[in-house]
Amino acid sequence: MADVKKIAVIAGDGIGPEVVAEAIKVMNKTEELFGYKFSFEQGLFGGIAIDEKGTPLPQDTLDMCKRADAVLLGAVGGPKWDNNPKELRPETGLLGIRKALGLFSNIRPATIFDCLKEASTLKPEVLEGTDLIVVRELTGGIYFGEKFRREGENGQEAVDTCVYNVAEVERIVRQAFEIAQKRRKFLTSVDKANVLETSRLWREVVNRIAPEYPDVELEHVLVDNCAMQLLRRPSSFDVIVTENMFGDILSDEAAMLTGSIGMLSSASLGEGAFGLYEPVHGSAPDIAGRGIANPIATILSVALMFRLTFGYEDAAKSIEDAVAEVLNAGHRTGDIAVDKSKAIGTQAMGELIVAAMRK
Ligand code: IPM
Ligand code: MG
Repeated sequence: MADVKKIAVIAGDGIGPEVVAEAIKVMNKTEELFGYKFSFEQGLFGGIAIDEKGTPLPQDTLDMCKRADAVLLGAVGGPKWDNNPKELRPETGLLGIRKALGLFSNIRPATIFDCLKEASTLKPEVLEGTDLIVVRELTGGIYFGEKFRREGENGQEAVDTCVYNVAEVERIVRQAFEIAQKRRKFLTSVDKANVLETSRLWREVVNRIAPEYPDVELEHVLVDNCAMQLLRRPSSFDVIVTENMFGDILSDEAAMLTGSIGMLSSASLGEGAFGLYEPVHGSAPDIAGRGIANPIATILSVALMFRLTFGYEDAAKSIEDAVAEVLNAGHRTGDIAVDKSKAIGTQAMGELIVAAMRK
């Protein structure tokens, strides 16, 4: 019998519970088709945890994640908590869980589904062949540096510090090289080495490590230029590796190439196989509870989990093929529909994908 993989499920806020429910149906179908076995444990996180437990990241949720083989996360946040002090904000929980679980690497693929090209704001001929991955450093840099206020000569000042050490750069860059080796073997390292000291260190480390991966072609691109090239020649990128804040910004930009943030999955990884998987989109409070959210990003996050944490390539492929089949047949949720009157709901989309899965 296959060993049972423990999945920590954090549905979170807004549309989180709705999209996670469909992803679990996909996992159940995988058990049926491939004989893999999963057990699920649910925990509170984000806004709902603030409301029920007074903290965005309760200890028992963290313990549950540590016991698990992988975490499936829906989405967190919403206007209700936006004006809370820092410790009582869902985003603080998100940064806390990344740090506590050692998830230093965030992987965000942006792949164009041919049949969805019309959903992008870019011209189809510019998008043709776009298939890239942003590998974002997730537990360092300005997000985690010292932050404080002080009285300066001209009144109050705020300080955010950006710190990277060699080991932090090395581990993420190595992972990016390894990912590139399994793809088109082209790595773009993005920094701001013409201005920032952390970027100069970043570039030094990349150049020192590069000879260990002679099969991968390397380019260095400054972040402002990269933002531009992503719109001009997106298909020329394969793997982009960059520091935390640049990666935050560029991965949103890359997401919009596909025209549909409702389609994009992500993985947050550490040293071993353990990972946290979540859709790139947020909790969409404006459409929460209406059964119209697109569950595809969460479903594709399950495919990533199967591939990256469990090595279940067959099941990952089966999910991705099922999604493509359902889209090719013309089914759309509201966010990706051209004719909104024909849009289907969250559950209907989930069920079509489950039905299209094959061994
Ligand atoms: C993301 C989000 C988070 C980030 C926010 C919500 C803290 O934008 O996952 O990209 O900046 O990392
Ligand atoms: Mg972001």
